Amino acid sequence: MRRTEWHQSIDSTMHRAAELAAEGCPAGTIVGADIQTAGQGRLGRTWHSNDGGLYFTMILRPKVEMRDLPMVTMASGVAVADALQMFAGVSVDLRWPNDVMVGERKLVGILAQWHAGAVLAGIGLNVSQSAFPDDVKNIATSLARETDRIHNKQVLLKAIAASVETHVEILETSGVTAILRLFANASSYVSGKRVKVELPGGDVVGTTAGLTPDGFLLLRKDDGEEITITAGGLRPV
Ligand code: BTN
Repeated sequence: MRRTEWHQSIDSTMHRAAELAAEGCPAGTIVGADIQTAGQGRLGRTWHSNDGGLYFTMILRPKVEMRDLPMVTMASGVAVADALQMFAGVSVDLRWPNDVMVGERKLVGILAQWHAGAVLAGIGLNVSQSAFPDDVKNIATSLARETDRIHNKQVLLKAIAASVETHVEILETSGVTAILRLFANASSYVSGKRVKVELPGGDVVGTTAGLTPDGFLLLRKDDGEEITITAGGLRPV
């Protein structure tokens, strides 16, 4: 039985998961919430966490090197995509590095961090929201919107958690190349997609050209130069 701590409202499940990880909780422990008052997104962004979403952090203790964190993130993305396809009947796309999309709209965000020797895998899934705050209303979607059904959050939580564990095991036993292959198979963004990448020095436009062995994204710019994207957000052009 997986240890699960559920909160009606919390600042961020990442904070509480960090405390539990530091206390030495077992792998597979979950901290979840119906609402987060300070939900964290990637790149220092806020993750809107109103009622209607599923917000949780799973504490993992994968037998991988610290530098393999992007692989744990990608394995989690594949895991979420598999679980949603199987349990919610929704067809999703993975946008490198860790967004689960339906078409051009984001359904799930994933944030993975090392803390106290554990990986905190934070997952935010829009379940029953019918409307979103102004800044994301044109780029977000929910399961209810995509499937015309209200899904049971606890059923989804169990399915996703089991799938994350399975995919972390695949990473541990079959290695990085297995995860990269699974990710590439589930993603229209890895190869041949025209994208704009938001980088600290400004936006770059080009066509995606595969993944490096470390899981970074190759981008062929319009002038022919190929660059490696290690972080940043992709937007279609
Ligand atoms: C992203 O920017 O796409 C990542 C969003 C991750 C959100 C989840 S919700 C559960 C966990 N707690 C947080 O504060 N963030 C993550």
